[in-house]
Amino acid sequence: MSARADPDPQEAPVPSPFAADRLPDGSRRYGHRAVLARRALLAGIVAAGAGTAALTARPGGGERAPAGADPAVHDPVLQAPVAAGGPVEPPPGFSTSDPASPWVVVNKRHPVTPPDFVPPALATVGGKEVAALVAPDLTALLAAAGAEGVRLTLTSGYRSAGHQRAVHERAVRRDGAETAESLSARPGHSEHQTGLAIDFGSAVQPGCAVEDCFGLTDEARWLAERAGAFGFLQRYTARNSPVTGYAPESWHYRWVGADLVARMAERGVSTLEEFFGVTGGPRYA
Ligand code: DAL
Ligand code: ZN
Repeated sequence: MSARADPDPQEAPVPSPFAADRLPDGSRRYGHRAVLARRALLAGIVAAGAGTAALTARPGGGERAPAGADPAVHDPVLQAPVAAGGPVEPPPGFSTSDPASPWVVVNKRHPVTPPDFVPPALATVGGKEVAALVAPDLTALLAAAGAEGVRLTLTSGYRSAGHQRAVHERAVRRDGAETAESLSARPGHSEHQTGLAIDFGSAVQPGCAVEDCFGLTDEARWLAERAGAFGFLQRYTARNSPVTGYAPESWHYRWVGADLVARMAERGVSTLEEFFGVTGGPRYA
């Protein structure tokens, strides 16, 4: 694929209407309260990371929960083969480790493999490249939002490993290593490299792209209510930060397909890690 010429806001922040939060170069200035809030959140993420110890190493493969704790083990909808008392693999074509699978789990313990993975097919939607798998639902979502006067934009889609390195290094320079680790994935560990993740923005509040204030926009509210019907899961919320290892991102959605979103909602599970019994948390493997 061609190199991305259009830097996303994490690389080239746009001026924010919250000008007091910005340094002259456009980078974010954390006020005292914001710094304290970020630190408290980070401490909570790290402390709660111990909770993932319940997820144990799996013989001969990825790390998964004990069979009794794996919610997918007896799930007929997933049509997963159930080994007697053993863990479950997703059905063929629905691997949690193949980065081309719609159900791949990418986090700090499960990198994109191979590290130079590029989605087998890319499509351009809303001016951004995404995995071709995502294009029909994403196109439908944007059309539905537009018909309701909700002015969504895409600020980021597929990012190569090299692009992610630049994004992460910029975050480290801007926020310091500790905070950056809760905001930005290291190269090879971002869902964006699969092409299955989208950062949405608001045409009404463009300055809120990849900023907490996006969560206050009509566009974010619409997504929170409706994105699931189009197969998109809000991946990083305050509730699931201990599992995902990241601070909340109201703009970051991951396409998994509407069926899986519905199954997760039925179970009251909000992370892919918990649903599939895959390890997560704030520490890199
Ligand atoms: N901001 C998310 C965690 C990423 O860098 O993929
Ligand atoms: Zn994102």
